[in-house]
Amino acid sequence: MQYTVTENRALTAQVFRLTLMGDTRTFTHPGQFAQVQVPGFYLRRPLSVYDWQPAEAGSMTLVYKVLGEGTRALAGIPKGAVLDVLPGLGNGFQPELAQAAKAKAPLLIGGGIGTPPLYGLCKALLRDGQTPAVVLGFGTAEEVILQDDFAALGVPVYVTTLDGSAGRKGFVTDAAETLAGSFDYVYTCGPEPMLKAVYGLCQRHDVDGQFSFEERMACGFGACMGCSCHTKYGSKRICKDGPVLLKEEIIW
Ligand SMILES: Cc1cc2nc3c(=O)[nH]c(=O)nc-3n(C[C@H](O)[C@H](O)[C@H](O)COP(=O)(O)OP(=O)(O)OC[C@H]3O[C@@H](n4cnc5c(N)ncnc54)[C@H](O)[C@@H]3O)c2cc1C
Ligand code: FES
Repeated sequence: MQYTVTENRALTAQVFRLTLMGDTRTFTHPGQFAQVQVPGFYLRRPLSVYDWQPAEAGSMTLVYKVLGEGTRALAGIPKGAVLDVLPGLGNGFQPELAQAAKAKAPLLIGGGIGTPPLYGLCKALLRDGQTPAVVLGFGTAEEVILQDDFAALGVPVYVTTLDGSAGRKGFVTDAAETLAGSFDYVYTCGPEPMLKAVYGLCQRHDVDGQFSFEERMACGFGACMGCSCHTKYGSKRICKDGPVLLKEEIIW
């Protein structure tokens, strides 16, 4: 499907915000992702949806970090260009499952470029009448993104950096520990070592949650099995059955 670039601007030296106009009706849950075809690259690049307006002539915003050749080329795409994108992929976060489990006090934990999908989730939770707390972790102050976006939603935001140059010094789990007792459900996205530490936090405090994984992908829609992982309920494709897994199904 074709989308027109209406914004592609730098938020930090390495992180960009990309807004695309087109049909966004296939997005149903925050934490879903789009497969973006960067001109000149065979494999599409999966990027989580940060926010979207669902409509035939709708819009989606993605926030991405320049890591390799594909994202570097994407950063050079000008406003007005047309990109081929597969939107609405994956299961996304499912707040309805937390509500079914009677959880009422969500904590969102994002690490680095795992932070963007939590923004759409935060908006969805607020619409459902829940006010989450948000913990965001980065390496240094220069890498901090989206803190103001979350704060503008009126939720408490706690920032950590590894070197202490912004917010509290340490890991997201250090900040989350100080909030223990005030949350009964965790939603998280970030690098796998962080997800594992958050899993440990959930175990220590007997709290359930949803974890978004960033497996390397090829097709992105369930056809190639390239992103399979083992869960307690058998093999799952991160692109189709994920990227969000429930805590109870994760094997660590
Ligand atoms: C479901 C999903 C959602 C994602 N959401 C976002 C997002 O919102 N914003 C964002 O910036 N990135 C996101 N990513 C990661 C993003 O897809 C990769 O950073 C991107 O594809 C790298 O492309 P590249 O051509 O620049 O780098 P490449 O040249 O392909 O690789 C450069 C470096 O990035 C690493 N890398 C590549 N792909 C991944 C990946 N999938 N996961 C972890 N490391 C990778 C490589 O190991 C290598 O070190 C997501 C990935 C998945 C699977
Ligand atoms: S990337 Fe092809 S099945 Fe997941």
